[in-house]
Amino acid sequence: MSGIDGKIAVVTGAARGIGLATAQKLAAAGARVVINDLDAEEAQQAADQIQGSVVFCADLTERDSGDALVNFAVEQFGSLDIIVNNAGYIWHSAIHNMSDEQWEAMLDIHVSAQFRILRAYGRWLRANADRAAPVRKVVNISSTMGLHGGATQLAYSAGKAAVVGLTKTLAKEWGRFNVTVNAVAFGAIDTRLTSPYETEPNIAIVKGQERKVGLSVQQIEEAKAASPLGKIGTPEDAANAIYLMCIPESDWITGEVLLASGGVRS
Ligand SMILES: NC(=O)c1ccc[n+]([C@@H]2O[C@H](COP(=O)([O-])OP(=O)(O)OC[C@H]3O[C@@H](n4cnc5c(N)ncnc54)[C@H](O)[C@@H]3O)[C@@H](O)[C@H]2O)c1
Repeated sequence: MSGIDGKIAVVTGAARGIGLATAQKLAAAGARVVINDLDAEEAQQAADQIQGSVVFCADLTERDSGDALVNFAVEQFGSLDIIVNNAGYIWHSAIHNMSDEQWEAMLDIHVSAQFRILRAYGRWLRANADRAAPVRKVVNISSTMGLHGGATQLAYSAGKAAVVGLTKTLAKEWGRFNVTVNAVAFGAIDTRLTSPYETEPNIAIVKGQERKVGLSVQQIEEAKAASPLGKIGTPEDAANAIYLMCIPESDWITGEVLLASGGVRS
C-alpha cells in the first residue's frame, strides 16, 4: 500500500500533458482524483482510463471556479488531501507587442487561478484541518521561466515567479493546519506546449482561441544539449517530481521550489 492510498486529490489541467500523467500517477498509487480541465471531452477520456476518478470541467479563470472545484471535491469524497495546481498555457510576445489582455490572461491562469483555489481550500481547512491527521499537500506548478526569466515570455515568467511567492507564504500560514505547500519548477517537458515544429509554431486551441505553441527543432536540440541528461523530460518525469511532493516522505519539506529540469539551471 502506498503512502497516498485512499487520499483525495485534485489535479487541475489534467486532460493532457503533465496534469494527465500526474492524475495517472496519483491514481495508480491509490488516490481518488478529481480531474479538472477546460476541455470536457479530453477530461472525460482521461477519467475513463483512470480508475476512481471524476471530472470537474471548468475554466479556472472564471472567478467562482476555485470555490466550485473545492466544494465539488469535498462533496464527492468527503475530504481533500492533495491539490496539484497545474493548469496553464502559453501566450508569448516581446514586451512591445504584449497587450494588456495577454499580460492579464497569463497572470490570471498562472497565479490568480491558483490563488482562488487555495483561498477556497484555506476556508475549508479552517473548519476541517486536524493536526493529528496525516499531512495534506499542495503542489503548485512553476517553471524555470519563473526562476530565471525567458526572453519573449514576460507575462508567463511573471506568473510563474508569482507562484513562488504564493507557495512560500502559504507554507508559513498553513503549517498550523498540517499542510505542506511546495512548488515544482519544470524545464522543458514534452507536451503540446513544447511540440516540435520545423518553420512555423504549432497551434493549440485554448478557450476557443488559437495560441502559438511548440519549440523549433533547433530549440529542442539546444534544450537537450543543455541538460546533463541529454534529453527533455517526459510527462511521466514531471509527474514523478510532483509525486515526491505528495507522499509522506516529503512531510518535512515545505515552502520549497523543487527544480525538475534534468539539471538545467538557467
Ligand atoms: N511543458 C513544459 O515544458 C512546461 C515547463 C514548465 C512548466 N510547465 C507548466 O506545466 C503545466 C502543465 O503544462 P503542460 O505542458 O502539461 O501543458 P498542456 O497544454 O499539455 O496541458 C495543460 C492543460 O491545462 C488546461 N488548461 C489551460 N487553461 C485552463 C483553464 N483556464 N482552466 C482549466 N484548465 C486549463 C489545458 O486545457 C490543458 O489540458 C502548466 O502550468 C505549464 O505552464 C510546462
